[in-house]
Amino acid sequence: MEKQQLEELLKDMSLQEKVDQMLQITGRFYQMDINSVLTGPALQMGLIESDINMAGSILGTYGAKELKQIQKTYMEQHPHHIPMLFMMDIIHGMKTIFPMPLAMGASFEPELVRRCAQASAKEAAYSGLHVTFSPMVDLVRDARWGRVMESTGEDPYLNSRMAEAQVRGFQGESMSEEGRVCACVKHFAGYGAAVAGREYSAAELSERTLRQYYFPAYKAGIDAGAGMVMTAFNTIDNIPATANRWLMRDILRGEMGFGGVLISDFSAILETVVHGYAEDKKDAAKKAVEAGVDIDMMTGCYSENLAELVEQGIVPESLVDECVWRILDLKNKLGLFDNPYKDADEAKAEEVILCREHRALAREAAGKSCVLLKNENILPLNKEKKIAFIGPYTYCKKIISNWSVAGESKDCVSVKEAADEIFDSIHTSYHAGSQMTGRKVRFEGFSAFGKAAEPDDEEWGEEKERKELEEAVRAAKEAEIVVLSVGESYLHSGEACSRAFLDIPEVQMNLFRRIAEVNPNIVVVLFNGRPLDIREISAKSKALLVAWMPGTEGGHGIVDVLTGKVNPSGKLPMSFPYCVGQCPVFYNELSTGRPYREGDTNRYFSKYLDIPNKPLYPFGYGLSYSEFEISPVKLNKNSFCEGDVITASVTVKNTGEFPGTEVIQLYVQDVAASVARPVKELKGFEKVTLRESEEAVVSFRIDETMLSFIRADGTVGCEPGLFRIWVGNSSETSNMAEFWLTK
Ligand code: NOJ
Repeated sequence: MEKQQLEELLKDMSLQEKVDQMLQITGRFYQMDINSVLTGPALQMGLIESDINMAGSILGTYGAKELKQIQKTYMEQHPHHIPMLFMMDIIHGMKTIFPMPLAMGASFEPELVRRCAQASAKEAAYSGLHVTFSPMVDLVRDARWGRVMESTGEDPYLNSRMAEAQVRGFQGESMSEEGRVCACVKHFAGYGAAVAGREYSAAELSERTLRQYYFPAYKAGIDAGAGMVMTAFNTIDNIPATANRWLMRDILRGEMGFGGVLISDFSAILETVVHGYAEDKKDAAKKAVEAGVDIDMMTGCYSENLAELVEQGIVPESLVDECVWRILDLKNKLGLFDNPYKDADEAKAEEVILCREHRALAREAAGKSCVLLKNENILPLNKEKKIAFIGPYTYCKKIISNWSVAGESKDCVSVKEAADEIFDSIHTSYHAGSQMTGRKVRFEGFSAFGKAAEPDDEEWGEEKERKELEEAVRAAKEAEIVVLSVGESYLHSGEACSRAFLDIPEVQMNLFRRIAEVNPNIVVVLFNGRPLDIREISAKSKALLVAWMPGTEGGHGIVDVLTGKVNPSGKLPMSFPYCVGQCPVFYNELSTGRPYREGDTNRYFSKYLDIPNKPLYPFGYGLSYSEFEISPVKLNKNSFCEGDVITASVTVKNTGEFPGTEVIQLYVQDVAASVARPVKELKGFEKVTLRESEEAVVSFRIDETMLSFIRADGTVGCEPGLFRIWVGNSSETSNMAEFWLTK
């Protein structure tokens, strides 16, 4: 539709019609009997039948046939026949589930991330969807927070590259293209900084910290063209983000130039009342619309109050028009005025969902996101050896995380299934050995899929528990190598899954300890939605492979790595703390005035009495089956002036026995500036693949934008002086060189 036609349409709409466009309800309202909706959830939300019939968008329902039907009925009864928008959380895959986003961060491969988003978009678009609530680009530092699984980690640079890759994958050149959906960058802003890692708590961030660490990834997603942004649940500077005018008007719209649709998170407008920022629903609606929130997700705040607020002259109608214009514009960009069904097509959906190509991609991604933290000459596995595969994750197919709305564990490949394809049954044995969380453990509030959905659905009695454990220990004794697949339950991470202890369930640790008593050759495969406290398993195992929640093809991806078909190349996108008391721990911190150096015995340094300062495994760390020699950093000059560039290069040589891939990382430090700068900041990375004995030069161009920051006076730019750069294969690299930036 031409812009002018769209403008005319907006002019012709009644105030109520406009307000209806700003309401989003769940698709379940269309699946339930309308009377039970009206006397139940709708009544609680303050919605009447016409609100439900006229809502501009729905969330959480998919399926080409069903959505086409909803669209048809909706448009027929809509006075202007405006099409409806269908949205859903396609976080790391629609039906083909890719590794969880934190795992994808570990791949350090934006192009892989783009391809996975593209495949997800295809499955979603043919299933009738128009918008995905993804990517989640919140920077995360505290492993206690359950949603770290949904982010790509602790680094603004890595997060930014991953944010733009996902947006491009979802939207392509234009979201109206076949097989594309609109991306939604979330949660604006600072949601990942929940105090103490407790879900929904406030984010206490200085404006400098917000700008320096948290904003860049949102900005990158917006610059890549994301059509939508979602507000965050938390407060920023004591004002709920959802109604924060400074954040939404000055920063998002003004500074970041975002012109797309701003949607609230689920019930977040109403929650501004609970925060103590709005007096009631009417005040909440006023404050949210003043902040420029276009769509109210699942509350009646707008529907009940906006028209009245306008009629009473409290809210100018132009504010409503502004929001509705952006919603209509998005519908138009998706091509819905020309074809309201867009790509919804049952046959095409069936063809593409879980197709061979998508499964192959999921397998590739699972392999590339595994991070090898330890290997004492035991991996890759020697298939001639007697191997016992033990642990609840040997069989468990619930490896797609709890953020897979449409994904099903029945479609997943377990470790056992994948190993069966490769290993000779004479040399292998398989035992769960323990349950996932153990008897009597209950997750509260997961009703529909809580305990009943646990991997060990069937409740083991005491006798079975003892028998399974003894059998696993016997198998471990008889084996030369034990591959122990253990970790968190998939229910341990995700929204509202904060944890105060970052441990592996006791019942599995008991299994681990019993195995370790009889066989020292343990390869641990860790399934996890977050960094865990892995001191004990790290100390007592010969190899440790972090597999995360690896998705539909998880078993294949893991076995590919265990057997050496894939040489691991993943790097940690988030530090693994020494223990929970160290959280939040991250590499790009500021120096204290009394930094502790290994071996210092003076008490008055910045350190703990009882644990080290350093995480157990740092950001950027991960091993390969190959060894890589990285030469000292070479600079093409020792000083340069603004407007110029300097080149830093290293020669990387594969000195190992296998072809392999290394992620070469560039870090920068501004040694003295008008404000203190982080001890190190990632500014570039490159994946280099080398055959045995092969070498290659990896170069990074450093220009002044890489050295820029928010100066003491609030302006952005760099300052002359001494800089350090490091080029290596983890954030703890000491391969450093120095140069001067001159005026
Ligand atoms: C709440 C979550 O915070 C958000 O990420 C998600 O997109 C919405 N629910 C919709 O499901």
